[in-house]
Amino acid sequence: MSEKDFIPVPYTTLKEEGTVSYSSPSNIALVKYWGKRDNQIPANPSISFTLAACVTKTSVNYKKKDQKSDEFSFDLFFEGEAKEEFKPKINTFLKRIEVYLPFLKEYHFVIKTSNSFPHSSGIASSASGMSALALCFMEMEKTFLDTLSNEHFNRKVSFLARLGSGSACRSIEGPLVQWGETPSIEGSSNLFGIKYPDKVHDVLNNFHDTILLVDKGEKQVSSTVGHELMHGHPFAKQRFDQAHDNLQKLKSVLSEGDLDTFINIVESEALTLHAMMMTSNPYFILMKPNTLSIINEIWKFRQVSKTHVCFTLDAGANVHVLYPENEKDIVFPFIKEKLVPYCQNGQYICDRIGLGAKKL
Ligand code: DP6
Repeated sequence: MSEKDFIPVPYTTLKEEGTVSYSSPSNIALVKYWGKRDNQIPANPSISFTLAACVTKTSVNYKKKDQKSDEFSFDLFFEGEAKEEFKPKINTFLKRIEVYLPFLKEYHFVIKTSNSFPHSSGIASSASGMSALALCFMEMEKTFLDTLSNEHFNRKVSFLARLGSGSACRSIEGPLVQWGETPSIEGSSNLFGIKYPDKVHDVLNNFHDTILLVDKGEKQVSSTVGHELMHGHPFAKQRFDQAHDNLQKLKSVLSEGDLDTFINIVESEALTLHAMMMTSNPYFILMKPNTLSIINEIWKFRQVSKTHVCFTLDAGANVHVLYPENEKDIVFPFIKEKLVPYCQNGQYICDRIGLGAKKL
């Protein structure tokens, strides 16, 4: 498929007005997307668990303008309050997707959005936020067309969400979504995420993710800047090759439920992501002392308990603690007793793997 396949056929009718609403989740990458080319094309393939509890709920009320103007027209409310400062980002998104949704300038929109997780938690809201908005616009398009298959709907939502934020293209379906062309995964694409097409063992379909909020401050480096730093990075080629290798290795790990190798790949990916930041120029350390303490506690506990608890990290100090459902009764008390004390104000979020976005 190419970008052109997402330009719609002429619409049959444009509805005068209406409201569409979606809830869309965040996701946590197992193989990380870090580095991109023009037009939000990833430098390497990635795969993520879709989450269930961390979601953005967005509703879009649309009303046809008297005359189509040359500007996008919308009001934006975040958690009930008008948010002028979020508007430029949405405007950029609308500009990027207009060619694929040519009705956008015909309407005035009232966009109302809220997150299930605290805004200042250090949890990125771009994946859930951009995917929720893309879903609302696609739901509108669906009513303007005679037919639109489910498969095309999901692909196009993911394609549009990607243009808002790369990782957002992995938030439409679940439990595992893969994005970025790679030889080991049939149907993989740089343009959109796909529901992971191969066999997944039950144990891996049922994981928990307890998110430890170690540092809720503003991000020291935005992901956009972070991706930039992979251009001319001394280890870029090795890193991109490694992501392809890890995806290939994950194939049998996922189908057989080989948790030891799973842990090895997931933790190595998290540390590699941070190693890339530490070895770029300018360089950054996004882990905090408590991030390291948590990692060491997890390693110690895993050895004595013989469980399969492991960690992964985003581009920040917070730690995602991953463990299978059948070990919850041993791992969760450990998290509460030994890890939560390292969290800022003792804050954490209990999440687990989810099945993707929902129409409201
Ligand atoms: C570290 O999707 O936030 O979370 O495309 O610039 O919006 P943009 O970047 P973004 O990058 C996410 C990077 C990551 C790893 C991942 O989710 O794969």
